[in-house]
Amino acid sequence: MRATLIDGSFIIAGLLFILALAGLSKHETSRRGNILGAIGMAIALIFIIAGTVMGTFNVVDTNFGWQSIEIVTAAAPSWAIIAIAIALAGGAAIGILKALKVEMTGMPELIALFHSFVGLAAVLVGWTSYVESAASDHFDALHSGELFVGVFIGAVTFTGSIIAYLKLSAKIKSAPLMLPGRNILNLGALVAFFVLTVLFVLNPAGAAGLGLLSVMTLLALLLGLHLVASIGGGDMPVVVSMLNSYSGWAAAAAGFTLENDLLIITGALVGSSGAYLSYIMCKAMNRSFISVIAGGFGSDGAVVGETKDYGEHRETSAAEVAEMLKNASSVVITPGYGMAVAQAQGTVADLTSRLRDKGVNVRFGIHPVAGRLPGHMNVLLAEAKVPYDIVLEMDEINDDLKDTDVVLVIGANDTVNPAATEDPSSPIAGMPVLEVWNADQVVVFKRSMATGYAGVQNPLFFKENAAMLFGDAKERVGDIIQAL
Ligand code: TAP
Repeated sequence: MRATLIDGSFIIAGLLFILALAGLSKHETSRRGNILGAIGMAIALIFIIAGTVMGTFNVVDTNFGWQSIEIVTAAAPSWAIIAIAIALAGGAAIGILKALKVEMTGMPELIALFHSFVGLAAVLVGWTSYVESAASDHFDALHSGELFVGVFIGAVTFTGSIIAYLKLSAKIKSAPLMLPGRNILNLGALVAFFVLTVLFVLNPAGAAGLGLLSVMTLLALLLGLHLVASIGGGDMPVVVSMLNSYSGWAAAAAGFTLENDLLIITGALVGSSGAYLSYIMCKAMNRSFISVIAGGFGSDGAVVGETKDYGEHRETSAAEVAEMLKNASSVVITPGYGMAVAQAQGTVADLTSRLRDKGVNVRFGIHPVAGRLPGHMNVLLAEAKVPYDIVLEMDEINDDLKDTDVVLVIGANDTVNPAATEDPSSPIAGMPVLEVWNADQVVVFKRSMATGYAGVQNPLFFKENAAMLFGDAKERVGDIIQAL
């Protein structure tokens, strides 16, 4: 019996990836999950690189298992090895620089940009494979179908992710593009893709095959662009996880083309976990999953940024808030993107432990899309060593808010906006929110009256039991600690 060492390493890496996903699903085990994933990826990379450079390792099985290694073929010529080394070193250097430079607040756009690379890679793999088949004039129907689908998913992921990157980094408007008949355009593109696939599989060779692949690539690039451009700012979190899923399927498709089992396994894991995450986020935001993946299908295109007169807001000071907290027995903190911008998590954790030392029941209420990444707030609070058992999900805390003395809204806006439940014409109508206004008193920490990510005014700021504490969240929380 002969078993290849590379196949063995793929199985181990695949298992580690599954354990990593399982670990990442809970706070307590997430660090372990991350480490297991990194080990799996290191094993996969080492064996793939070694296999490419040195040929295929074959393990000769003697009576007691893997005993000796044979190098069977020299798979790659030396110029190819040099090219691979340059590409690897260049890619690794860019990756390390980006990772060192990126702020936590810039992660979503960086992730979107990385997804675009996966999409582009899948397109290039598909096209390279096509050129190889065309050069030898040997086309296999299954292989033709695989590469055609791979190029399609890759191209949609590529342009979709570029648009997501531009929207998330505010380089273009986050408002949805509302082309007339946009649903028909998307559906038409899908139907055209199926027809082109059948034609290509039947006729992959010569000018006809090349023409079909070119037309489909262009169509998929335009479809990706349109799908994400039609999605509004409020739904962008779902789009990021949806593109994550697409990038997984693109990688799996490239795995079929390259006959690389690990790429198929990893792509399928990323694709299915990304799809499941998108589904959970759609549920959390009360959005239809189909509507979001179909590019805002069914959205009524509500206008973002309409201003309404909600009356006067009230301002407060750090000293007043400190007094309020001294007299409180229950406090809920609802952090949002502004806490990440201000890097206020450490100071917030400090305030929390001081209040808890005084016997105040302090808990955190986390909205599923608070911040700019799924789990963004949980990561920041874990980093600041806030105990997990006082960090509750929105559904776990919403009913308790009416019995809460003080809610501190620290840099959150859309996720505590009552318009979502009170104003059916709001672009965020129907999205479940933290119902902070039900508490006795609410203090909102932010720098101005500006809107949040979705560009929607927030009537919370004008409620009678709400007061604004203007300024940088970290400084204001520090002032409260001083006053306490
Ligand atoms: P946002 O609605 O974005 O509001 C954040 C608020 O923080 C802003 O109103 C801003 O007001 C304030 N702020 C910014 N810097 C601050 C600072 N240094 N100190 C104090 N306040 C500061 O945040 P949210 O409630 O967390 O909602 C998240 C939004 O992002 C949702 O619309 C969600 O759909 C979207 N989104 C989420 C994700 C994921 S996956 N979570 C991904 C992309 C988009 P000022 O400018 O007045 O200070």
